[in-house]
Amino acid sequence: MIEELNNYNFLTENDNLLLKTYNLGFNNKQILIITINREKSLNAVDLNILKSLSNVLKHVKDDSNILSIIITGAGSKAFIAGADIKSMNNFNSEDAYKYSVLGQDLVKLINSFDKPIIAAINGYALGGGCEIATACHLRYASENSIFGQPEVKLGIIAGWGGTVNLKKIIGLGNATKLLISGDTINCDEALRLGLVNMVFPFANFLSSVIKEVKSFCHNSPNAIKNTLISINSSNNDESYKIESDLFSKSFKHEDSRIGISAFLRKEKPKFK
Ligand code: COA
Repeated sequence: MIEELNNYNFLTENDNLLLKTYNLGFNNKQILIITINREKSLNAVDLNILKSLSNVLKHVKDDSNILSIIITGAGSKAFIAGADIKSMNNFNSEDAYKYSVLGQDLVKLINSFDKPIIAAINGYALGGGCEIATACHLRYASENSIFGQPEVKLGIIAGWGGTVNLKKIIGLGNATKLLISGDTINCDEALRLGLVNMVFPFANFLSSVIKEVKSFCHNSPNAIKNTLISINSSNNDESYKIESDLFSKSFKHEDSRIGISAFLRKEKPKFK
């Protein structure tokens, strides 16, 4: 299947995104596959990736040949292990606010997109990775996938829509548990909670996801578009604003220093 993919011609600002298309075999219609390509950092999403991903999606919105988009991570370990913690090390609360709003802009763009966006989760989906997956319309996971919102272990809170969107998918109680425990769950538990739609073996994972996505690409693009608009019509702006205010505030508190520096030293944080 991989050899059937072609390059998608769009200049991103860095090579941390790989863009390929799968040809559906009718009317030049295609699925776009976006791979977060930062394997050494477990595909942690930094500012460049945030911006590039937004730019690609905005471009694809007007490309009538692309019927659906799959987002996945490079390598065999991670979908996205979160927002880039290293770049947050010296954040003050203003930097944190901006970072939160930029991430929220991306998840809002994904969530309100009028073509199906599918997260192909091939490993860790933590923090911002879980938030990006949660914003997608569908989530397909490989059997090695691990999910969680570990921000509280860093002394901060989820800032890219995690407190807004997770509860819509797995319910208030389950979302609260994940968000305040920072615990991780495997794909079986994610399937049980409804966090993922399907789980596939790791071997040929992307092919399995493409096969699934192909199955609804024959439906009316216009009807799919209007269905997605209608499903996602509720307005969350106030909740997003509260989240970014509180994310920003957490960087004023010493817990964020304790948590982030402990992660960078590969130690357990000791909050007071
Ligand atoms: N931001 C920046 N770098 C990250 C990262 C993140 N979110 N997640 C992993 N990395 C980096 C590690 O720092 C390490 O870099 P190094 O080789 O320069 O030390 C590299 O990716 C590999 O990660 P490592 O922790 O050595 O792998 P592991 O298999 O032991 O553990 C995880 C994997 C995912 C459990 C662990 O990396 C982790 O807990 N990551 C952070 C998850 C998180 O808190 N996300 C929310 C952020 S808001």
